[in-house]
Amino acid sequence: MSAQTAQLPQTTDSAAAPREVRLVSRPVGFPTHENFELVESTIPPLAEGQMRVRNVAMSVDPYMRGRMSDAKSYADPFALGEAMDGGAVGVVEESRAEGFAVGDHVLHGFGWREVAVIGAKGARVVDVSQVSPSLYLGVLGMPGLTAYAGLTRIATIKEGDVVFVSGAAGAVGSVVGQIAKALGASRVIGSAGSAEKVRHVVDDLGFDAAFNYKDGAVSTQLREAAPEGIDVYFDNVGGDHLEAAIGSLRLRGRIAVCGAISVYNNTEPAPGPRNLARLIQTRGRIEGFLVGDHADLSKEYAGKVAGWLASGELTSRETVVHGIDHAVDAFLGLLRGENTGKMVVRL
Ligand SMILES: NC(=O)c1ccc[n+]([C@@H]2O[C@H](COP(=O)([O-])OP(=O)(O)OC[C@H]3O[C@@H](n4cnc5c(N)ncnc54)[C@H](OP(=O)(O)O)[C@@H]3O)[C@@H](O)[C@H]2O)c1
Repeated sequence: MSAQTAQLPQTTDSAAAPREVRLVSRPVGFPTHENFELVESTIPPLAEGQMRVRNVAMSVDPYMRGRMSDAKSYADPFALGEAMDGGAVGVVEESRAEGFAVGDHVLHGFGWREVAVIGAKGARVVDVSQVSPSLYLGVLGMPGLTAYAGLTRIATIKEGDVVFVSGAAGAVGSVVGQIAKALGASRVIGSAGSAEKVRHVVDDLGFDAAFNYKDGAVSTQLREAAPEGIDVYFDNVGGDHLEAAIGSLRLRGRIAVCGAISVYNNTEPAPGPRNLARLIQTRGRIEGFLVGDHADLSKEYAGKVAGWLASGELTSRETVVHGIDHAVDAFLGLLRGENTGKMVVRL
């Protein structure tokens, strides 16, 4: 398996009392450090059915930006003054939960803290004998399944398809491009926000072409990269990328709307694509999806991803930030595009 890691600044903090990150105010526009607070946690004694877990890795994800606002959405907003939550992997330190033993690594939903007291529901033991625990937050976890569900079930990828994916160097996008090739795409094109990311997706991940969306109009760059048009667009960013993809869609093309990170920090609604009528002439289909609705694909994906990783068809990179005191930096960095591959915080 190939997993490369880029390191970001390391903390030297080794405080004994476990800490957690709380949301203390709702961001308006781009979040800032003032929206968060790092405080010591109160760890209650275990009730029957609970375990205490020391987290070794936690995830920061774009969807968390949505949960920082109180607008009605598919996921509840984070409560002000309380620890945020999210994907994490930890080691069981004490257990009163059946099926979970001291020393087990567990994947669970109580990130943004060093130590968590959790119930068995929503926690699962993971095998870290061959892989780094943090891979369960990326290619072996939610982002990987998102890529697979979006490509196979929503975009219904077929052999020979020309596939375009935005956010191509990120956690989801990097998997989309690589497994699209593994599933028979004839050409895979990616867009990303720097020359180095463009180089990475072509040279390291095997994309056929890529462009930096900051270099010029997405529509023009996409037409150059896919002169014959595209069959599938996997949308991670929304905005002008979506409009460009509709403009390049071939007959019976499919667009899987996964995310819209280009508008997550907007304070005003973003304009919609101006060319939706093109879906009529192309008989095109556009469909949004949430990975949570496709948990039934987990087993199928787990089987396939193991094979793709073993064969080298799929490689995964992480950008690692060290320490709970840099978790907010990691989250803000993710929104700014400082990650290549999955952004994780090692604790
Ligand atoms: N539907 C679902 O169930 C589901 C599940 C997981 C993720 N998602 C969505 O999938 C997308 C990717 O998530 P991820 O976890 O893989 O994150 P990611 O791609 O690893 O990280 C986010 C990336 O977004 C890019 N970005 C930031 N601002 C941008 C802008 N204005 N325009 C274009 N790109 C911008 C940055 O890369 P650049 O340097 O390239 O700009 C950044 O690295 C997000 O929209 C997320 O919300 C949806």
